[in-house]
Amino acid sequence: MDIILAEYLGFCYGVKRAIKMARMQSGRDSYIATLGPIIHNPQIVKQLADEGIVSIDSLDDIDHGTIIIRSHGVGPSVYEKAEAKGLNIVDATCPHVKRAQMAAKTLVDEGYSVVIIGERTHPEVKSIFEWSGKNAVAVETSAQAQDIQPAKKLGVVAQTTFSRAKFKQLVDILLDKSNEIKVLCTICNATEQRQAAAEKLASEVELMLVIGGRNSANTTRLAELCAQRCPTHHIETADELDDDWFHNIEKIGVTAGASTPDWLIKEVYKKCKNMNKICKVY
Ligand code: F3S
Repeated sequence: MDIILAEYLGFCYGVKRAIKMARMQSGRDSYIATLGPIIHNPQIVKQLADEGIVSIDSLDDIDHGTIIIRSHGVGPSVYEKAEAKGLNIVDATCPHVKRAQMAAKTLVDEGYSVVIIGERTHPEVKSIFEWSGKNAVAVETSAQAQDIQPAKKLGVVAQTTFSRAKFKQLVDILLDKSNEIKVLCTICNATEQRQAAAEKLASEVELMLVIGGRNSANTTRLAELCAQRCPTHHIETADELDDDWFHNIEKIGVTAGASTPDWLIKEVYKKCKNMNKICKVY
């Protein structure tokens, strides 16, 4: 049985960087916390807690020590509050998110009415909104884009993980809203790369394994895309692998969401390999 890993899978650059930055703080302060869980992966959150880095939901829960900002960023008021409390701030905001935040701020400073194309309730979009001085409107559907008021100057930025195809559709609608439109495509390609690689692989194998939290939106999306092409199992850990899935299967593909650590992927791979079959990895 061949086991083929997707060309792009697992942690993206920004998540890897944030976890590394958090780990580097271990033992350096009397109290260290991340503002919200660093990623949607309970195993990693627990590992960090074991290393003395806890997760808190609000700055009200910390009055000394180090606060770590997650990869999807926060608004300026959080930095101000943390500074006012005298906290040591470790900013693990992904540089791609930072770019989207600064783009929104600059557009507002230049007099543009700003539209953020992204999910309104997503923390990253909320942070971009805050960096715009709350002078922006977030849209994620065609109907919401249609509702945007015409403006003299319209500036557009994107949630980093937004679909490029959908972004183009919405920008197309916004083109009718102003004669001066500045579009800053702040989409990061990590999500697209993972989806395209998963789709390609799912078209070439007989079975796909998609590893990642069931509460992880990007992993679930990968599983949906794969399931459109071949039988697919969405699993969180190697323990869920079932011998029955592999009868008469010669080629299986493996992918993982952006919040799935390498060691979970390796465990699944090893267990498949130990199923007394001949394996090959590309
Ligand atoms: Fe950054 Fe893109 Fe990941 S914005 S956090 S590298 S999905």
